[in-house]
Amino acid sequence: MTYRVQMLEPSTSFDIEAGESVLTAALRAGVGLAHSCQLGGCGTCRIRLLEGEVEYEEQPLGLDDEDREAGYALACQAHALGDLVIESARDEHCAEPLRHWATVSSVVQLSPDVAHLSLVIPEIDALTYRPGQHLKLHAPDGRSRSFSMASVPRQNMVDLHIRRVPGGWFTDGWMPGLKPGDRIEVELPLGNFFYRAADYRPLIMIATGTGLAPIKSILESLMDDPDCPPVSLYWGGRQTADLYLGEQIASWGERLYDFQYIPVLSRPQAGWAGRCGYVQDAVAADLGDLAEHAIYLCGSPTMIQGARNRFIGLGASTAHIYMDSFTFQST
Ligand code: FES
Repeated sequence: MTYRVQMLEPSTSFDIEAGESVLTAALRAGVGLAHSCQLGGCGTCRIRLLEGEVEYEEQPLGLDDEDREAGYALACQAHALGDLVIESARDEHCAEPLRHWATVSSVVQLSPDVAHLSLVIPEIDALTYRPGQHLKLHAPDGRSRSFSMASVPRQNMVDLHIRRVPGGWFTDGWMPGLKPGDRIEVELPLGNFFYRAADYRPLIMIATGTGLAPIKSILESLMDDPDCPPVSLYWGGRQTADLYLGEQIASWGERLYDFQYIPVLSRPQAGWAGRCGYVQDAVAADLGDLAEHAIYLCGSPTMIQGARNRFIGLGASTAHIYMDSFTFQST
């Protein structure tokens, strides 16, 4: 069964087969719908459904019931149940994603598993993105990987935190050969994860592993800002080596209004005197009622799903929970 998708802005149309995703059909037809994770987690492929219905094999993590009721869909997971009329739901305050050639400035190990990759984009003077958004690195063989910007926009430089995936084609194959001066094609900015200043509430920022990167970018953008709300940052890892920027974060309190940093380890070595367990449990134990907070979650789908469900049970509203879910791919 073949249906027709009509897209407004940009105005175009394409065929979609029953059982394939809107994104797959769009890309096959040469329609450049923004996308990144293709797993339903990042929200980059968000569209607004103006007519018609879609279904999902599983409810995607990056789309909650309120989004669905408001007419949003995730193109990478949505299957058409008939003809559709859609429009891109990219946030109007986000710049259009573009491809550029970047040059490697440095590659530095932050921990045994996490590298800091710094890039410069010589062809532009000033990068435009919302702190919290991500970019895509395109390899010469056509494969790509998405990473959040770990830095605030500053001239034409961007920093990434890249966690090693044992045996992964990118972190064990391509990246070890990268050296200063090498060129990489990048695409940015992508994603709907960024700070919502209009949602002015005490902030709970929760990250696991390199999920810290977009949170760091957001918090650096709030430094020395008199309108910065109180911030509680919970950063989870297994062992102390996972908290690769611990000392730097401890100093953020000097430039953020009312800042609390709570590192949490799930499998601490002997001698760890800090919090143990999962980050979402630490938040629940410390704060209890979450009805008045804005909550930003970045990390694995397991953490995000668990935290979201837990926090809704503690009074958090889905309208004030912002999520960036990612997985580590090896192929
Ligand atoms: Fe669809 Fe990430 S590309 S949610």
